[in-house]
Amino acid sequence: MKNTKIQVSLKQELDSSYTISIGESISCEIASFVSQVNPSSLAIITDSNLVSSAESLANEFEKEEINTSLISFPAGESSKTLATLESVLEQMLSHKLDRKSCVVAFGGGVTGDLAGFAASVFMRGISVVQVPTSLLAMVDSSVGGKTGVDFKQGKNLAGSFLQPKAVFADVSYLKTLPYSEIKNGLAESVKHAVMFDSSLFSMIRNNSSQFNLFDANIFSELVEKNCIIKSALVEKDEFENSNRVLLNYGHTVGHAIESLTGYSKVSHGEAVAIGMAVEGRIAVEKGFFSEADLNLQNSLLKSLDFSLKLPKISRTSLVESMKSDKKSTGGNIKIVFPEKIGKYSPESLSNSSIVSEKEILSALQVF
Ligand SMILES: NC(=O)c1ccc[n+]([C@@H]2O[C@H](COP(=O)([O-])OP(=O)(O)OC[C@H]3O[C@@H](n4cnc5c(N)ncnc54)[C@H](O)[C@@H]3O)[C@@H](O)[C@H]2O)c1
Ligand SMILES: [Zn+2]
Repeated sequence: MKNTKIQVSLKQELDSSYTISIGESISCEIASFVSQVNPSSLAIITDSNLVSSAESLANEFEKEEINTSLISFPAGESSKTLATLESVLEQMLSHKLDRKSCVVAFGGGVTGDLAGFAASVFMRGISVVQVPTSLLAMVDSSVGGKTGVDFKQGKNLAGSFLQPKAVFADVSYLKTLPYSEIKNGLAESVKHAVMFDSSLFSMIRNNSSQFNLFDANIFSELVEKNCIIKSALVEKDEFENSNRVLLNYGHTVGHAIESLTGYSKVSHGEAVAIGMAVEGRIAVEKGFFSEADLNLQNSLLKSLDFSLKLPKISRTSLVESMKSDKKSTGGNIKIVFPEKIGKYSPESLSNSSIVSEKEILSALQVF
């Protein structure tokens, strides 16, 4: 018998470019965009807190004669599981969605990640449009195509990349978002500002007392500046093999704090804020960042009402938890850090970003 080899050639160029629209009361724009995509049907996936806003959006779709169904799940991070994904997929089947249907992910980052994941696996993949309603989702999670669910072993351990067909950030939704949730988006914004954009840093500083009052212009500018930063990184590194890791500033320590406090006592934004204070201190001690710039960063965080005190957790367990972070490899703890306000240190992408337990424990002494 003759052995044979058959080459399966799969080289392809895909254009998955999309537009992020930012503004006030843009729900009719969403409906007209979706009607141009011309799906066979549509499911708005949302959480239990946002059902009535989602119903209003559904009415806009119905006006465009798009066959729309609404699928909801209990609000909160604890819903970001395979069990909820299964229930969402079953509801998509019972609403008779097909391969030409489209999903609208309407909500915060939990909804974006869960609904995006559902769209990426439903009938091996259908389109998703992201409609973020929390500040965190507007400035961060709705852009970039990362989707996923959590496991008891850790957050976001299964997921996929599915770039949305479009993102519509309607800042009017932020009117109902409590300041405790706004802060989660502000922490990510400060992270973007410190690592990439001193003008964003100044903008946040100039408006630091305004974010608990709704001002559409201020929020639109904030979302726009953040989306410019995030989309530029995603364009360069869609699948997180290089520079996208720079978005991890504050997160190695932040994730460890969240994990050791059981994901309930300290919010993600609060954990990332403390994480930036600790990782910034490590960068100062390694000689990459100045004390003066660290003070500027920390003063801004405090003016936004972040406490930079480490919660009552043992420092050695914090280091152990950092070692098991999904972005650490072979027990090496890597952190990324700024060089000055508005610019990341290129050393973040080299071996200099590996920090020893001793360096971390030394930086933690002042906390
Ligand atoms: N995919 C990514 O690139 C990426 C990036 C960062 C974070 N994330 C994920 O995002 C999630 C966190 O997102 P989040 O902070 O938006 O959490 P969330 O989706 O749980 O929303 C926070 C709370 O605010 C409520 N809410 C949302 N919009 C509202 C509005 N307009 N008015 C009133 N209440 C509103 C929600 O119902 C929820 O109770 C995490 O699971 C995280 O892993 C993903
Ligand atoms: Zn984050």
